[in-house]
Amino acid sequence: MTKVLVAYASKHHSTAEIADAIADELRAHGLDVECLEAGETSAEGYDAVVLGSAMYTGRWLRHARTFLKHNLDALKQVPFWIFTSGPVGENVDKELEEDSKWLEPHHVLGLAESVGVRGHVVFAGRIPEDPHGFIEKAMARNTPEEFRDSRDWDQIRKWGAEIATELGASAQPQT
Ligand SMILES: Cc1cc2nc3c(=O)[nH]c(=O)nc-3n(C[C@H](O)[C@H](O)[C@H](O)COP(=O)(O)O)c2cc1C
Repeated sequence: MTKVLVAYASKHHSTAEIADAIADELRAHGLDVECLEAGETSAEGYDAVVLGSAMYTGRWLRHARTFLKHNLDALKQVPFWIFTSGPVGENVDKELEEDSKWLEPHHVLGLAESVGVRGHVVFAGRIPEDPHGFIEKAMARNTPEEFRDSRDWDQIRKWGAEIATELGASAQPQT
């Protein structure tokens, strides 16, 4: 059975939950999936890899960047996808339409493309529920409650299903 790694870097857990949802979707299509923190795993031994990170001030988190840099040779050999989670708040749809340097991890994309990444998607994120420090607390305070979690679970699951299909898994989730 195709063994898939979903690796993620997340500071306040919302990206970890996105990774879990992708992993669940892949499992529902009959794939053998492990979902692990990027700092605690490697791409060795997997037949396909999905790597994701939250964006902070225009960059992926360190553990995801390090995973990518340290696993380039292994990632070259297998189907590989990346996702970014970031934009939040009232204007999230408009932001997602713009090619802003705050949304796209350009250096990461260049590296991922050099090893043949099959796709990259930017998902809307969530304002930290447990904000630390002045900036995070200000973001939480300035974002109305109903705009704090912008994650689109249908879009996330659909992306997982597309990956499963590309990996040749059953097109319909197994029950
Ligand atoms: C201090 C701070 C800086 C952020 N910078 C960006 C950014 O540059 N681009 C972006 O799209 N989102 C940015 N965000 C939004 C986060 O990426 C979003 O809250 C994400 O869902 C957090 O993921 P996590 O819960 O996995 O840590 C920022 C959030 C905070 C608190």
